[in-house]
Amino acid sequence: MTNNEINNAREKFGLLLEKQLERIEMMKKQQEWIDFSKLKPIIIGVCFGDGIGEQISKHAEHILKEMLKDEVANGCVTFRDIAGLTIENRVKHNKAIPADVLQELKSCHVILKGPTTTPQAGDSWPNIESANVAMRRELDLFANVRPVKMPEKGIDWCFFRENTEDIYVLGSKGIDVTQDLSVDFKVITEQGSERIIRMAFEYAKKNNYKRVTVVTKANVVKTTDGRFSRVAKRIAEEYKGISCDEWYIDIMTAKLIDPARAKEFQVMVMPNLYGDILTDEAAQIQGGVGTAGSANIGKRWAMFEAIHGSAPRMVKEGRAKYADPCSMIKASAMLLRHIGYPERGEKVEMALDMCGQFEKKLIITGREKGATGEAYTEYLLKWIHDPKLKQKWGSEIKHLQKKAK
Ligand code: IPM
Ligand code: MG
Repeated sequence: MTNNEINNAREKFGLLLEKQLERIEMMKKQQEWIDFSKLKPIIIGVCFGDGIGEQISKHAEHILKEMLKDEVANGCVTFRDIAGLTIENRVKHNKAIPADVLQELKSCHVILKGPTTTPQAGDSWPNIESANVAMRRELDLFANVRPVKMPEKGIDWCFFRENTEDIYVLGSKGIDVTQDLSVDFKVITEQGSERIIRMAFEYAKKNNYKRVTVVTKANVVKTTDGRFSRVAKRIAEEYKGISCDEWYIDIMTAKLIDPARAKEFQVMVMPNLYGDILTDEAAQIQGGVGTAGSANIGKRWAMFEAIHGSAPRMVKEGRAKYADPCSMIKASAMLLRHIGYPERGEKVEMALDMCGQFEKKLIITGREKGATGEAYTEYLLKWIHDPKLKQKWGSEIKHLQKKAK
């Protein structure tokens, strides 16, 4: 009996390995980066997702359309609504992303995506694979970039989370070997590590950061994290002006809340799961997961989203309209930068700071006493259209930085 079970597991494992080796061959094919300056129109897909997704995506889309009004009018940018990424439709097709929805997603160049419900065993939904994980894999969105800034604390972080490997890539393909034994798989490849680590170093170089911190648990998880760590050391050699240090994930979560250490970190790069956990922590330090945006970047496609989930509890309690749209709006700013409008992305980010950190005329609490997402969006737009935005933001920042020193 046990021999049979082991043979079964061995066979399944063999198939998984074959697929991973195929994926490596794809990565080796070194596709070129998409050039947005050559696209007309740039197609932006918008999918609302589940739960509070509908509300917050609507507000983010509104701001994005406002920022790209002229480009839409002159045919340089087109918006495309993509329905069907709801949990109901995914369950109906028993697919993380139904085939027709995936095709539509692939027909766009970039995607603004609301949070989608990710079931787990025992939920009211069947235990289908996460739409996020599937989208990242299917569109090969290997870099999950999550900036977190708190000028008053001297914090300016950018996380580069590997997005297509680690414990995630076979997260729905684990094996129940016997009645008592379950095994999941952690996958780290040379190519997958290299591309994310290189991206982190390139970002540091371009933006004049002097330090890249690699986060692993290579002292315990010796083979996979060991590889990630080794690749990082190899790549660091190529970037002479940038120092590279390695921290283990446990102490890293502690040091992010140590004021003395926290401001020393700049660019951080890590495998998928550590990045998932660390970026929620970082976002909370910044003021809550509702305040952080997330860019999922691949060579061909890119997807921009909130870093948090669909908050079904808020919907159930009738609080969806009080949900904070800032994470999705920050994601929209990242989208603007990515497709070649960095000044407009910056403008949206400045307005987010003016409203959320400096002026604070409206406050979002997620509850009735706070502002609605709609009112807050109008507040942001007021600042976005204010010709004094840059000047006022600049003086506020200077003031904060002085205080932080
Ligand atoms: C995130 C989310 C996702 C993840 C979930 C929804 C699958 O937590 O984007 O960080 O774990 O990556
Ligand atoms: Mg997460």
